[in-house]
Amino acid sequence: MTSLWLATHPISTQGVPPVPDARYDTVVVGAGLTGVTTALLLTRAGQRVALVEARVPGVVTTGNTTGKLSLLQGLVMSRIRTHQGDDVLRAHAEANRAGQSWLIRHLNTNGLSYQVRNAYTYATTDEGRRSLDRELGATQASGIDARWADDAGLPFPVTGAITLANQIQLHPTEVLASLLREYESLGGVLHTWARFHSVETGSGCEISTSRGQLRADRVVLATGTPVLDRGAYFARLQALRSYVVACRVTEPVPDGMYLSVDSPTRSLRTAITRDGEFFLIGGNGHPTGREAHPKQAIADLEHWTSSYFPTASFTHAWSGQDYRPIDGVPYVGHVPMTKDRVLTATGYDKWGLTNAVAAALRIAGSLTGSDVAWAEPLETLPPRAMSLVDAVRFGVGVAGQMTGGWAGATTHGLPDEDPAEGVGVVGRVGARPVARSTVDDRTCTVSAVCTHLGGVVVWNDAERSWDCPLHGSRFSPTGRVLEGPAVDDLPEWGGHEVDD
Ligand SMILES: Cc1cc2nc3c(=O)[nH]c(=O)nc-3n(C[C@H](O)[C@H](O)[C@H](O)COP(=O)(O)OP(=O)(O)OC[C@H]3O[C@@H](n4cnc5c(N)ncnc54)[C@H](O)[C@@H]3O)c2cc1C
Ligand code: FES
Repeated sequence: MTSLWLATHPISTQGVPPVPDARYDTVVVGAGLTGVTTALLLTRAGQRVALVEARVPGVVTTGNTTGKLSLLQGLVMSRIRTHQGDDVLRAHAEANRAGQSWLIRHLNTNGLSYQVRNAYTYATTDEGRRSLDRELGATQASGIDARWADDAGLPFPVTGAITLANQIQLHPTEVLASLLREYESLGGVLHTWARFHSVETGSGCEISTSRGQLRADRVVLATGTPVLDRGAYFARLQALRSYVVACRVTEPVPDGMYLSVDSPTRSLRTAITRDGEFFLIGGNGHPTGREAHPKQAIADLEHWTSSYFPTASFTHAWSGQDYRPIDGVPYVGHVPMTKDRVLTATGYDKWGLTNAVAAALRIAGSLTGSDVAWAEPLETLPPRAMSLVDAVRFGVGVAGQMTGGWAGATTHGLPDEDPAEGVGVVGRVGARPVARSTVDDRTCTVSAVCTHLGGVVVWNDAERSWDCPLHGSRFSPTGRVLEGPAVDDLPEWGGHEVDD
């Protein structure tokens, strides 16, 4: 499943091999939008920076987004208002405005194409309409000039819609490639296929990666979800997967950028690429590893699209993962118990294009002695009562998945026969859950126990991956880490290393 963005603008830069024991001012881990922007800002400020990427830039969430650079963000503002109050709400809006403005400047300076569109959040039920009411109040209280929309221009009935004029739709991998070009042209170092494993903090940072050791004064973990368990961020984040399909249509399509508030969600935009114009439809999100047949999510999006746009001819389908923070706002700052040497940014709740840049501005500001004024109310966020309720709910869900996963996996033995093509099964061998799948005629057997904290993985039939329902780590059929908080592969069953 390759996104329209990665298909039409793959990022080919391979970086350079690491030099043993090289020393930097800052090592940034993760080459998505957060990491690349942070690394660029630090390099612009004169720092020696290494950007360390486990795979290649953009292939995880940034290359699989919908690509709306918008300050109208679903129900985010009312959620933040409930959890954190109006001071934090206004600071969050300011942060997003700063992130959006910075990226628009980059688009303009570098002649990148983008389209200006009205953004809409709409409802199709009475309950959704009440949510929109609250969202409009919160958005306006945050200082963002959203309004009721009389006509959202959609080809189906809605119970209400709010709108914000002059937002942006962009091509995320084209933008990421441009940021990387500037970073490398300023002398920034990129190491691809280098997975961060650990960091020792003392008078500096000793960083261990799959391609050797690096040294730095500071480390920034821009890994989607933090890959260090200090701070237990995984317990305050919910990993959510969602789906996008692209198609060509001959009938007119709505001109704006849309997001529904009722379930299942629908996210709409057009996209103009070097291969022509497409219509994108996203939605059907769910907590990672907790949907029995993710493939159906894509079939359902196609079915829904065809019912309103009968000429739709589908060209691409993909899926991505982002993290919802239980406190409503992203976590940006120092990781506890690292002597203030390790920073991180996470929890963008599917609005990372503005939030990732805002986080990068905050982190780079704090590392170069030029703190940004709007960040202050966001610095210390004590969890409130509502967050604790959510924390318990999240915790119960995770505990249920943990016990249910082990119970389900150990009640039956692993079948002897190879699974059919595209199928994965989990079963007991001795007392251990073991995962076996067949993909592209190759059958692989790996441990089914997630290397993060011991959840039992489940098969994802859309992406042919093993997904952990606890905190969202995902693994290839051979056990290779794809994303999430895990840093170690699933061992091949029998205790051997994975071999791809
Ligand atoms: C379906 C979907 C649609 C979305 N639509 C929108 C939208 O329209 N507008 C919007 O604003 N936001 C949207 N988002 C959210 C946005 O795309 C993300 O929040 C943002 O891209 C996150 O960027 P990131 O750099 O933090 O993470 P990523 O892009 O995931 O980058 C993290 C990088 O870290 C690397 N990494 C991980 N672990 C290690 C390790 N141990 N060592 C080295 N490297 C490591 C990964 O390989 C990856 O390249 C959407 C998200 C999804 C899932
Ligand atoms: S992701 Fe935490 S246990 Fe699997």
